[in-house]
Amino acid sequence: MHLPARAYYNQRHVVNEDSGTLRALAQAVAWPTDLSLAQWCSWYSVALEFQPDLIIELGRGMGNSTTLFTLAAHRMPGTKVFSFCLSDQWDRLTRPRLLPLTGEAWFAPLSTYLIDICEVDFTHLILPAKRILLLWDAHGYVVADRVLSHIMPLLAQKEHVVICHDVSDNRLYPDAPRQYGGKTIWRGMDSYYADSDRTSRTNLFWLNTVVDQFVPILDFCWRNRIDLRSADWEMKGDMADNPLALAEIERETPSDCFSVMNHWAYFSLNESPGPLTFPTSAMRCG
Ligand SMILES: C[S@@+](CC[C@H](N)C(=O)[O-])C[C@H]1O[C@@H](n2cnc3c(N)ncnc32)[C@H](O)[C@@H]1O
Repeated sequence: MHLPARAYYNQRHVVNEDSGTLRALAQAVAWPTDLSLAQWCSWYSVALEFQPDLIIELGRGMGNSTTLFTLAAHRMPGTKVFSFCLSDQWDRLTRPRLLPLTGEAWFAPLSTYLIDICEVDFTHLILPAKRILLLWDAHGYVVADRVLSHIMPLLAQKEHVVICHDVSDNRLYPDAPRQYGGKTIWRGMDSYYADSDRTSRTNLFWLNTVVDQFVPILDFCWRNRIDLRSADWEMKGDMADNPLALAEIERETPSDCFSVMNHWAYFSLNESPGPLTFPTSAMRCG
């Protein structure tokens, strides 16, 4: 099985044991539009399966992923979570709502920074780590520039996996409408977010998305001879090939904690045969 299915299957008892806590924390974060409970559990299982000593979160927002990775760190003594975001929603809204449930000491594995990712030098964070899980959930070309030109060369020296959010696999939605329906072509996420009534989503091979970074991610993966892996496609295939595993998951975990469709993709330069290549930064940052 590939990582998404293997993780969920192997960690299903932990997910079940922690499901009450995961559900209560998700309700306290109260922002399921950014991450459903099933998505929480999907990434929770991946973190526990991958056993990183360092989790880097790019894009905290209301803090769904921040919270679930911090909970995962409690299951992996020594694992630290470093979270970078421009938004102050975590400090202003989410942390105060979590505090009565968790207590102050619960936040110990987590360090949060209110900062532009482009201004962060990740060298001293990444070099001492051994296994790194990077969540890439801050959108756009500016962050993509920083990740691909600065963070990826550092990650390449380590065991790592990069999780990318906000992409659907249109092979799994054969009946999705293909008509433009009177909308313009997609011209980047800014035009989409400004007027999604008039602007289409974009479809690139199997990817259905609105966020810009998937264009340079696809290009980066091609140049480095690695796959951008669809978590949902792999999960669907692995569950079809292993119906007994699916039955065990469905029997042993709450139904709101599992979904085959979780709308994320992932990649790792550890799969590249080399030679590796990285873009030069177009930004004046770091
Ligand atoms: C979709 S939200 C993250 C959601 C979060 N991962 C969760 O699970 O709830 C994306 C966040 O990325 C942040 N962001 C975008 N560009 C950024 C940048 N250059 N530096 C830091 N944060 C950035 C935005 O402020 C926003 O809060």
